[in-house]
Amino acid sequence: MSSQDPKQRIDKLVEELAEASHRYYVLSQPTLSDAEYDRRFRELEHLEREYPQYSRPDSPTQRVGSSPRTGFKTIKHAVAMLSLDNAMNEEEIAEFDQQVRRFLEKEGQVEGEVEYCIEHKFDGVAVTLRYEAGLLTQALTRGDGFEGEEITANAKTLRSIPLRLRGAQVPPVLEVRGEVLFMKSDFEAYNAERVAGGEEPFANPRNAASGSLRQLDPRETAKRRLSFFAYGLGAIDGFELPALHNQVMEAVTRFGFRRSPLFAVVRGSSGIVAAYREAQLARAGLPFEVDGMVVKVNSLALQELLGFRQRSPRWAIATKFPAIEENTVLRDITVQVGRTGAVTPVAVLDPVQVGGVVVSRATLHNEDEIMRKDLRIGDTVVVRRQGDVIPAVVAVVTAARTGNERRFVFPTNCPECETKLIKPEGEAVARCPNTHCPARLEQHVLHYASRNGADIEGLGDKWVAMFIERGLVQDVADLYLLTEEQLLRLPRMGELLARKILAAIDKSKRVALNKFIFALGIRHVGERTALILARYCHTLERFRSLGLDSLSNIPEVGVETAAALSEFLSDPEQQALLDKLLAAGVQALALEEQQGGALQGKTFVLTGSLQSLSRDEAQERIQALGGKVTSNVSKKTDYVLVGAEPGSKYDKAKELGVCILDESAFLRMIS
Ligand code: IVH
Repeated sequence: MSSQDPKQRIDKLVEELAEASHRYYVLSQPTLSDAEYDRRFRELEHLEREYPQYSRPDSPTQRVGSSPRTGFKTIKHAVAMLSLDNAMNEEEIAEFDQQVRRFLEKEGQVEGEVEYCIEHKFDGVAVTLRYEAGLLTQALTRGDGFEGEEITANAKTLRSIPLRLRGAQVPPVLEVRGEVLFMKSDFEAYNAERVAGGEEPFANPRNAASGSLRQLDPRETAKRRLSFFAYGLGAIDGFELPALHNQVMEAVTRFGFRRSPLFAVVRGSSGIVAAYREAQLARAGLPFEVDGMVVKVNSLALQELLGFRQRSPRWAIATKFPAIEENTVLRDITVQVGRTGAVTPVAVLDPVQVGGVVVSRATLHNEDEIMRKDLRIGDTVVVRRQGDVIPAVVAVVTAARTGNERRFVFPTNCPECETKLIKPEGEAVARCPNTHCPARLEQHVLHYASRNGADIEGLGDKWVAMFIERGLVQDVADLYLLTEEQLLRLPRMGELLARKILAAIDKSKRVALNKFIFALGIRHVGERTALILARYCHTLERFRSLGLDSLSNIPEVGVETAAALSEFLSDPEQQALLDKLLAAGVQALALEEQQGGALQGKTFVLTGSLQSLSRDEAQERIQALGGKVTSNVSKKTDYVLVGAEPGSKYDKAKELGVCILDESAFLRMIS
C-alpha cells in the first residue's frame, strides 16, 4: 500500500483544521460547521493512530489529551515581563504625555505631539508564547515577571493560540505576548456548567481564567474555552522589527493571532483622552472584560530612548476605567437549595442600577464568604457588576453602620425538608443530604426538563412544585407516568393544558443521548461534557457501563468529572432510575440517529476482498453511518477501502491521491 497517501491526507487535514480554527477563533468568521470540523478531526485521529509516523506536532489532536501532571516547572523569561504604571483619570493621562514629551525634548527628539498606539488593557492572565522555527514550543505565565510557570500543554488547548505560526516566512525565534481570558459568553457558559454540576460559579472572569490556565490536567483547561489576545513581543531572533508598534502588531496578526479590537494610532494627550472616553462608552458592549486602555509610544526607536524605570516602561501607561460599582442596602439573606443539595446563601438587596442593569439579588456563595466580609443584614454594601457577569457583593461600608444590623445565622437544617445539613471537612458548601428533599427534587426535575436537557416545553416551576407537593412526582421518571386524570385534579388545570403538558412530556421520550446525559444532572457534567460522553459512547447502554478506567481515558474529561460519573454510575439507586426511565419509554438516541452518521456525506469505493467482513457487510456499515458506496474512483471519492488482491481501482486511487484505507484502518474508523 502506498505510504504517500495517508501522509498527504494527514497534512491536508492538519492544514484545513488549523485554517478553520483561525477563521473561527481569530477572525470570528467561521467557515466549517462544528459537525464538519468534528468529522475531519475524527478522521485525522484515526489516521494518526494508524500511521503514527506521520503525526505532526502542530496537529489539532495535540491540543488535548495529555495526561495530568503533578506540578508546574518554573522557567526564567528570556526577556522580563514588566508591569505598567497606571493613570486613573484624564489628568493623569495628560501628565503621562507631558513626561514623555519632556523626556524626548531633552533628547532633542520630538517637536510637537507624540504619536501613540492605543489598545485595550485586557483583564486576564499574561503569558508568553515561544515559537521556534514557527512551532509553539513553550508557554509561560508572567509569574513575578522574571520567571513564570511552564503551562505549554494547557496553552495548546486554546484554539486562538496557533500551534504553528501562519505564513511562509517564520523567524527562528519569536515570542508573542498577550493575555489569556474568558470571553463573557464562555465565562457564563462555564459558570452555568459549574452550577449544573453543583459547584459554585466563579465571581470574576480574571480569577477564573487564572485558575483555569493553571489546572494540572490540561483536559480541564480545554473544557473551559479560554481565549488569547496578543499585545506585543518578547525575545526574537531573525525577525526584523518594523519601525512602529502598530506595524509589529500587524505582523503578529499575520502570524495568526487576535489582537485588541480597539487598536488605533492617536496624537498627543487630546488624542488619548478622546479614545479613552470612547473606549469607556464601548466597554459594556465588548465580548470580554477590559479594565482600561493601554497607551504606547508608537515609535520603537523612541520607546528605546525612553527606556524603563524600575519595573515599568516610560513609554507606556495603563489608563484604568472606573469600576462599575454601586452602594445599596442588604435587606436580607436567604438560602437556596440546589439540585445537588448545595445550600447557598443569596443576598436580597434594595434594587440598584449597576452599569445599566437593575440588581436586586446576588449570590454570596457560602457561609465563609459572609464571615470573611463580615456581612450583616441591614448593612450598606458595595455591589459590583463586571460586564454581563453575575453581580457580587464586594464589601461592606462599615462607616454607614448604625448598630441596628444583625448577623446572619446559617441554618443547621435544610429550610425545605429540615434534614440536618452536612458540610464535609475542607468543603465550603453545606449540603442537604436527603436525596428526596423536595427542593432538590424540584431543581432536579426542572433541570431534567430544561431546554438543554430533555426539553419538556411548558413545564414551569409552578407545576413541578405542585406535582412534587402532591406526591405525583417522586423522581424524574414519574413524569412519564402522569395521567390526564391526575392532572385534571390540580387547581387551575384545564383539559387543554393537561393534554399539552402530557404531549410535551411524551415528546421528550425521544431525546438525544447528549441531552439525556446532561438532563441526568450528574455533578460536573455540563452540556459540553455530556456531548463528549455521547460521542464517546454512542449508546446509553455503553454509557451506563462505563467504569472509572475508561472514564479516565476520555479526552477532555477531567479527574473530578470522571470520579463524579463513576460514583453516579455505580450507584444502584441511579441505575434503577435509568431502568425506570427506559421502562417508561424513554429512548436516548445516538448522535448518528439524530443528524446522520459519522460518515455522513463521505463516498467510499471498495476493492479487493476483506477478511473480517464481506463486501456487502462493509457496504451496510458505511451506509448505516451515513456514507455512500459507489463503484468508480474519481476525485470526489473520499476513501478507497482496499482488501487483498485489489483491482485497478486501487491504482486509480493512488493516481488521484484519494485516501486509501486498509481493513484495519476502516474497522477503526467505523468502530
Ligand atoms: S504591554 C512592559 N499591552 O498589563 C509591559 N500589557 O501591568 C508591556 N496587559 O501583565 C505590557 N493588556 O499582561 C500590554 N494591551 C496590553 C495589555 C497589557 C493587558 C497586562 C500585561 C501586564 C500588565 C501590566
